[in-house]
Amino acid sequence: MDTKQYIQIFDELDDNDQSSSATKNGRKQKYPLRNPKKESESDHQFRSQQDDSASTYKFTYKAARFEEWWLLDSIGPFYEHKLISDVLRRLKGGKEASVYLCQASLESEASLLAAKVYRPRSLRNLKNDQIYRTGRTDLGKDGKRLVKEADINAIIKRTAYGEEVRHTSWIAYEFSTLEMLHAAGADVPKPVGMEKNAILIEYIGDAGNAAPTLNTVTLERDEARELFDRVIRNLDLLLTLERIHGDLSAYNILYWDGDITLIDFPQVTFTEANPSSWVIFLRDVTRVCQYFRSQGVKCDARKLAADLWTSHGYQVVKEVHPLYLDAEKKEDRRLWEKQK
Ligand SMILES: Nc1ncnc2c1ncn2[C@@H]1O[C@H](COP(=O)(O)OP(=O)(O)O)[C@@H](O)[C@H]1O
Ligand SMILES: [Mg+2]
Repeated sequence: MDTKQYIQIFDELDDNDQSSSATKNGRKQKYPLRNPKKESESDHQFRSQQDDSASTYKFTYKAARFEEWWLLDSIGPFYEHKLISDVLRRLKGGKEASVYLCQASLESEASLLAAKVYRPRSLRNLKNDQIYRTGRTDLGKDGKRLVKEADINAIIKRTAYGEEVRHTSWIAYEFSTLEMLHAAGADVPKPVGMEKNAILIEYIGDAGNAAPTLNTVTLERDEARELFDRVIRNLDLLLTLERIHGDLSAYNILYWDGDITLIDFPQVTFTEANPSSWVIFLRDVTRVCQYFRSQGVKCDARKLAADLWTSHGYQVVKEVHPLYLDAEKKEDRRLWEKQK
């Protein structure tokens, strides 16, 4: 599939986020109707070529035309390995990934699972991921460190194959971090499976509604305090494991049944090996505090971050190299202004 065709899929996904019946701020979300674009001859030919594989699966979720191929290519292996028996609906389409609700196969313990399918590396909302990758050895699909020289060289030379390996490594980090955190008792979804472009994890929610992200939830003050302490406990656990979430905020915390679940870990950062780790950690704590302050919890982000950081024996370092900052992000620009 060429880049143009991929772009088309994702434009369609963005246009037609018909995903869930999940509520936002207590109100039902509305989704625009699908735009009935006329299929071009080349699209038609392309789609016909995919029909063979498409006919093997009969999923409840009816994907838009090109999404179907992408979905089968990414989630199909979970079906073949008998981890899921159906794809029920799309929960969320994002710039980085789309998340689908799946019916687990009988052999699996939970009845519903979430499959997070990544956009191809070249088409993701190009966030500056170098800052997080520093000090991380790339991983293969099996979650083990890459050892083949050809793979490592391909990544360095940024060949098309290298970009693919790098993309898989990004996903493998999300999966292996979930494995590590789940085993350590953190509040994260249980990881179930990984393929080269997708991960399968515990689903948070029920058949009707997926858990909302915390930023859409209003908490009672007592509950806010309790959940804040819980987030801090998780941050502390991550530091014990020498890791930082790297993109933590109320947008990456799910709220269900009075409990929180931290999600979205591909940018997990290493405390020891990454020279910007303190700044990344401080940003995580600052964003968490922003939300909880709005819910009536008193917190001094800088003091809290410094206390946690130094309690693990790390030193507070002020500067972050501009190479690692993303000019598109307001916080990063502010940080740079302060450093100048
Ligand atoms: N395990 C899950 N259960 C229910 N919903 C989920 C789960 N994982 C992700 N989601 C939903 O999908 C969205 C995108 O997932 P996330 O991992 O944050 O990816 P992205 O990189 O696109 O932000 C989340 O905001 C949440 O609404
Ligand atoms: Mg997210």
